[in-house]
Amino acid sequence: MTDNLTVVTHPLVQHKLSLMRDKSAPTPLFRQLLREISQLLAYEITRELALTTKRINTPLEPMDAPVLDGKKLALVSILRAGNGLLDGVLELIPGARVGFVGLYRDEETLKPVQYYFKVPDTLEDRLVIAVDPMLATGNSSVAAIDLLKRSGAKNIRFMCLLAAPEGVKRMQEAHPDVQIVTAALDSHLNAKGYIVPGLGDAGDRMFGTK
Ligand code: URA
Repeated sequence: MTDNLTVVTHPLVQHKLSLMRDKSAPTPLFRQLLREISQLLAYEITRELALTTKRINTPLEPMDAPVLDGKKLALVSILRAGNGLLDGVLELIPGARVGFVGLYRDEETLKPVQYYFKVPDTLEDRLVIAVDPMLATGNSSVAAIDLLKRSGAKNIRFMCLLAAPEGVKRMQEAHPDVQIVTAALDSHLNAKGYIVPGLGDAGDRMFGTK
């Protein structure tokens, strides 16, 4: 972990990630592994959530039981690949509010182009977890977080599967307050903006579009 970057080195995460990277992994397996890893990353990213207590009755006696405090958190998927992480996290935190940011990457300029934005009304008091599997150039992640901040979000974390050093640097410069949680920090970006060694196009691999 350096500053606001956490690499989740848990052996289960690393093993599952290696299975995903393998180009022979079929779409259903890729999607299943992404779901599983998203839940392990969610475990890490939510480890500091505040707790309060609630009086309940067990079959044996009353107790003050720990429960999550504060407003329900918001998950924001950066479309379309973010949905692969979103599904798993929602299974773990079913009460979360959900938003979507639609950005695609112009393959020539590598710059993000916005086509959709819908988030819960009240982001101010919530922990907002933005999800996108690939932190590559950082352009779309930075743009998405700009939009979330403009909508009031103050406490934002960013969950990804793979990060490139270039993307981490870009995020840390633009949004030093945003904690990044990833399963791996890879070597570099290639000339087309792909993470190396990476796993290819995450959206195509999870949705079977190529
Ligand atoms: N987006 C992807 O899906 N893969 C990369 O390697 C970079 C960006």
